[in-house]
Amino acid sequence: MTDRMSSVDRRSFLKTAGAAAAATTLPISLVELAFADPAQNFTFAYISDAHIQHIAGTRFVRNWDRGLIRAVAETNLLTPAPDFVMFGGDLAQLGTKAELDHGAEMLSKLNAKLYCVMGEHDYYLDLGEYWSKLFGPQHYSFDHKGVHFVVLNSILTTDDWTYKRWPTAEQRMLEMAGLDNPNGSPFMVGEKQRAWLAGDLAKVGKDTPVVVFSHSPIQKIYKGWNFWTDDAEQVQALLKPFKTPTVVYGHVHQIQYNQIDNITFHSVMATAWPWPYPESYAQAKAELNFPKMTVPMNRADPFFERDATGWQTMDVAGGRPTLKYNLYNNTNRVVGFDPRIGMPADSAYQDPAKRIPPQTHY
Ligand SMILES: [Fe+2]
Ligand SMILES: [Fe+2]
Repeated sequence: MTDRMSSVDRRSFLKTAGAAAAATTLPISLVELAFADPAQNFTFAYISDAHIQHIAGTRFVRNWDRGLIRAVAETNLLTPAPDFVMFGGDLAQLGTKAELDHGAEMLSKLNAKLYCVMGEHDYYLDLGEYWSKLFGPQHYSFDHKGVHFVVLNSILTTDDWTYKRWPTAEQRMLEMAGLDNPNGSPFMVGEKQRAWLAGDLAKVGKDTPVVVFSHSPIQKIYKGWNFWTDDAEQVQALLKPFKTPTVVYGHVHQIQYNQIDNITFHSVMATAWPWPYPESYAQAKAELNFPKMTVPMNRADPFFERDATGWQTMDVAGGRPTLKYNLYNNTNRVVGFDPRIGMPADSAYQDPAKRIPPQTHY
């Protein structure tokens, strides 16, 4: 499938979408799906990492609210509508009821069915209790148009860290909320959930496309920032028997893609703020596992709160999703599996000479 979204900026795309709805024609980027194989091909939307942050009373951090409101509004404008919407975790900043309620209210405005992934910012205050009341189970699977989707809670850690180390739940949450806090603890899916996953996948045909949603990457990128899942290899081993497994994750607030054996990995954007690539940080270089970068987000303007944030849609054509990144105030990007190189590729990979050089961070 070719993509034409990149040649139309998002603003005019949305205008086209609005006009198309009025004129009962379809926006150009989605027409192609209808002509390909309507029984198999479909689109869903993905919104992640809203980090809704309570200040006091009825006040919340406005920038983070605006990011989520914008993603919900733009998702509702898609024509035809996505089959469903995933929310990729970190709905809240510090896991409070006020934050989760406020975020849930904004997500309730979505017209499509919503599925949710647990993030560490949602979890470590009450260990997911209130989140589960709002959104249901923390790991589950479902089938849609021939694709098997699995949602994992990948942000668990050791019982010792979770239950014995911190005097209060609030402190536990704060320790895990810091990006580069050495008091944090590596994320893991855990033995119990891996056993559930093995049982769930045992019922799925090996040729069935499998898409796994997690919050942290099910690969080891950079431990210092917890861009990491400690039992990644064990989870990958459960996915490898399938023909085209794909893992889609949030948490990293930037575009990443990777291929490990036959498993394809894609990250999604945050609506709140972007993280720079670890490569732009000197301490990351020695242990960086990240194999390939798209556009290094060096925060040329760290005071520009919408730099490199956004949301995305995914076209599922057969086994490998194609991600269309709708970046707030940046050029839209498309990353999809390229069979010629056997891995995902950015359709408009940025010329290194045109990149903004790494900045000094303090
Ligand atoms: Fe996040
Ligand atoms: Fe996270």
